Amino acid sequence: MARWRILVSVAVATLTAAAMGATASPAAAAPTGSDDFGAPTTNVVGGTRAAQGEFPFMVRLSMGCGGALYSSKLVLTAAHCVNGTGTNTSITATLGVVDLNSSSKITVKSNYVYRAPGYNGNGKDWALIRLASPVTTLATLPIATNSTYDTGTFTIAGWGAATEGGGQQRYMLKASVPFVSDSTCNSSAMYGGEVIPTDEICAGYAAGGTDTCQGDSGGPMFRTGANGALVQVGIVSWGDGCARRNKPGVYTQVSYFSSAIASAAASLGG
Ligand code: ARG
Repeated sequence: MARWRILVSVAVATLTAAAMGATASPAAAAPTGSDDFGAPTTNVVGGTRAAQGEFPFMVRLSMGCGGALYSSKLVLTAAHCVNGTGTNTSITATLGVVDLNSSSKITVKSNYVYRAPGYNGNGKDWALIRLASPVTTLATLPIATNSTYDTGTFTIAGWGAATEGGGQQRYMLKASVPFVSDSTCNSSAMYGGEVIPTDEICAGYAAGGTDTCQGDSGGPMFRTGANGALVQVGIVSWGDGCARRNKPGVYTQVSYFSSAIASAAASLGG
């Protein structure tokens, strides 16, 4: 099944990038973004550099994924970024910096991973990683608990590839993408039924050009919610390539899983 193939290839690309010290995986040629000091051009794919402190909840995970600080001890990421549920002390979370080489970065090891029950590569693409020590100096990102904010314009961010097939990024990139309805996203012009409407939410431009990409997986898609505060509506999950025409990014629909995420978080000690 095509959808499954996409997800697997993506996971392999991510793990390869992590194993090789976050370098490029060879793939389709894509426009090259220049990224000289202070002059970001393309990135996330089609984004710009995030300012230090702009998205304090952003987490970089050592297997080559993103995440969001859900609570002082828990990072919300994608199920496809982890291997399963259980004790896991092998993941390093990097927080508090846009520059992964910054000497002010916070690094914390994991001590447990909870992967969405029933995860089999189709939907349910969420997981919680528990940190070995709490991070109390950074703002967390609340998750959407109903579908109110599952529309409009979203922000995406991460250290993933800035072009399809490109290398991982040292500096966090961000971009804005519009909501794409399930019916449009599942139309024959786009994903032709591969999107699971309950579990997934699409975002991107029909013309392409702006998207998350390999290595952004697990990171949050968010927007302004109540009282101007940011709220997480998505988790980077999959797409056909990156930023291609008629291939929006597909994100875990956080509101649909909000109760399950909250229960799991409580079971992990909050
Ligand atoms: N699954 C990818 C990862 O592991 C993210 C893919 C997102 N792709 C997209 N076109 N939005 O990093």
